[in-house]
Amino acid sequence: MKSPHFFIYFFLLLFLFSIKSISAQENELENKIEKVLSKMTLREKIGQMNQINGRNLSDQLYEQIRSGEVGSMLNVGSPELVNQLQKIAREESKTGIPLVIARDVIHGFKTMFPIPLGQAASFDPDIVEIGAKIAAKEASERGIRWTFAPMMDISRDARWGRIAESFGEDTYLTQMMAVAMIKGFQGKDLSKPSSIAASAKHFIAYGAVEGGRDYNTTNITERQLRNIYLPPFEKAIREANCATLMTSFNANDGIPASGNDYLLKNVLREEWGFDGVVVSDWASIKEMIQIGFCEDNKDAARKGVLAGVDIEMVSSCYLENIEALISEGKLQQKVIDDAVRNILRLKFRLGLFTNPYTDLNKKTSSYSESHLQAAKQAAEESFVLLKNKNNILPISNKVKTIAIIGPMADAAHDQMGTWSFDGEKEMTQTPLQALRKQYGKEVKFIYEQGIAYSRDTSTARFSKAITLAKQADMVLVFVGEEAILSGEAHSLAQINLKGAQSELIAALSKTGKPVVTLVMAGRPLTIAKEIDQSDAVLYLWHPGTMGGPAIADILFGKSVPSGKLPVTFPKYVGQIPVYYNHDKIGRPATKKETLLQEIPLEAKQSSLGTSSYYLDAGFDALFDFGYGLSYTTFEYSNLVLSTVTLSESEDLTVTVDLKNTGRYQGTEVVQLYTADIFGSTARPIKELKDFKRISLKPGETQKVRFILPISKLAFWDINNKKVVEAGQFNLMVGGNSQEVLIKEFKVL
Ligand code: NOJ
Repeated sequence: MKSPHFFIYFFLLLFLFSIKSISAQENELENKIEKVLSKMTLREKIGQMNQINGRNLSDQLYEQIRSGEVGSMLNVGSPELVNQLQKIAREESKTGIPLVIARDVIHGFKTMFPIPLGQAASFDPDIVEIGAKIAAKEASERGIRWTFAPMMDISRDARWGRIAESFGEDTYLTQMMAVAMIKGFQGKDLSKPSSIAASAKHFIAYGAVEGGRDYNTTNITERQLRNIYLPPFEKAIREANCATLMTSFNANDGIPASGNDYLLKNVLREEWGFDGVVVSDWASIKEMIQIGFCEDNKDAARKGVLAGVDIEMVSSCYLENIEALISEGKLQQKVIDDAVRNILRLKFRLGLFTNPYTDLNKKTSSYSESHLQAAKQAAEESFVLLKNKNNILPISNKVKTIAIIGPMADAAHDQMGTWSFDGEKEMTQTPLQALRKQYGKEVKFIYEQGIAYSRDTSTARFSKAITLAKQADMVLVFVGEEAILSGEAHSLAQINLKGAQSELIAALSKTGKPVVTLVMAGRPLTIAKEIDQSDAVLYLWHPGTMGGPAIADILFGKSVPSGKLPVTFPKYVGQIPVYYNHDKIGRPATKKETLLQEIPLEAKQSSLGTSSYYLDAGFDALFDFGYGLSYTTFEYSNLVLSTVTLSESEDLTVTVDLKNTGRYQGTEVVQLYTADIFGSTARPIKELKDFKRISLKPGETQKVRFILPISKLAFWDINNKKVVEAGQFNLMVGGNSQEVLIKEFKVL
């Protein structure tokens, strides 16, 4: 028998050997980069920094590629075209440097997964990783090797259309989902033809645009950046080796992201050690002029390059001005060389020098059965059950006739959601189709849209919908938002149900038949009234290609809802921003406050109390972060901490008993929060630190265990240093952010 020392030495040697071979590989890579770089003219180097929109092809563009003036392209139409352009770059240009072809593959390529906000509701990083892997496979088969995803902007404002593309309001959840997505896109080996480079975007604070108006400005302090907005990017770079990063459109505290050398150099490159590519957003170098940060194109090129933006997307400030800036001594050649090194590093890592072409003979895996099944699973896990009066769901076998009503029941295009460039509505399975196909033998479905599309204000078809509802045992009403109402540049000042949808629900509820409302939307909607008028409500987000089959199985109880809200739902748009982890304040509203109608006449100025709430909305949300019901019920008990005094570098072990007290097998998302009671700055009232999806049979109990490393309690303190401060903490575990078991502990 070998001594334990033998194994220790063996693994140490193995470890040292692997470090050595990694650094040997890295040296080799850097040598290759230098070799290519040494043969390039300045013009060719600038060409690498130039990214072109592939939608506008012309002879001039072909010539530009041939002369080395294009380094990458986005939105090239077909793999044949990709190969054709690649051939020019590889075989007809002097440098022979391959192009890298990019595309916004955000939540699926052909097989559309739920929008990212829906994926976040699954609290399941594994399915997110699988989804991204599938998207990478399908996209890479079409010549795409770089996606501009994941978007990891913390989004606390549902007016902002791009909340659909986010993982919601929480830093930790966003971080977990972003890391999973990057791993899925990039795989273990970026050079595999089925891997694509991910892009951490948008750096930084873009989700905090004023008033939720897209492209607007932000004013987030450095401490907030460090505590709330930067952590997902840091994880993306340090943990998931994200190959690229995109700067955002907004200026934060007056400095446009594409000109922010402190964040791009000191934080990203120096602190985090990023050696990948920084790409601007679409024309965001040039837009620094519009922002008033740069005088003209030349100034924009200088500031962008100096800040460390390696590639300019679409606008051509770099191409047109860098040579002059160098000859005038306003830019140094070394800065350009460094940018080009980053770009070449990406191309080598993608294996493009050895394998530049797409295999056109390979059979596509798009819409393969395994891809569809994964998309269905992702959709099922993303649905959030918000209400289920008298356990009306799942649909019982006593229900013989169901009226399917509403503009989203058969909206194949819209259920794919925003950023579905390549998804095809012909391949999308809608709830109407799926219900008929999967359950049409047992149940009679009768259908009337009632309203043509989500914004339709006409009530002309209501009478038919009501007639059908009266003939049925139950009504399923599919409402929400068309895909075009969320996403980039699609902000809204009102986030209620558009058109006559609300009236439709009201009319259906008056029939006295049980009404199940199903909402397909790209954002939280203010639906308090509609919830009251419905017996059950399922929030479906935009569920993608397999939304229909997933909904059908959830409705009939073949699957059980397990999604939880990744974002707080406001009652009124005027409450925004409303999010669970806000900083503590001096006068929190803690009890039922006096509301508008309760104010006595001529009440004295301070007679209503002095706490933080709205006279006309109270202080609470419609639904809190982490909320979501199941068909079964779960009971939490016996929260135990391994210690109540935690010293430096210790881990806290937390256990809690979770029991399935209902009648269905179900999955619960167990959420762990901490609250730092007192700090050198005001601290959030609570913060998510961990979560687990736990599946239990009826009656089954499981001891759920979390390990909380003390480092997870660190934050950027009054001196802008990351520290764990000594003092009292609360630890909370529960099925949402509000209903939790609490225990105290102390950090010494
Ligand atoms: C602008 C968007 O902000 C960004 O997210 C996207 O990747 C680029 N356009 C490219 O389409």
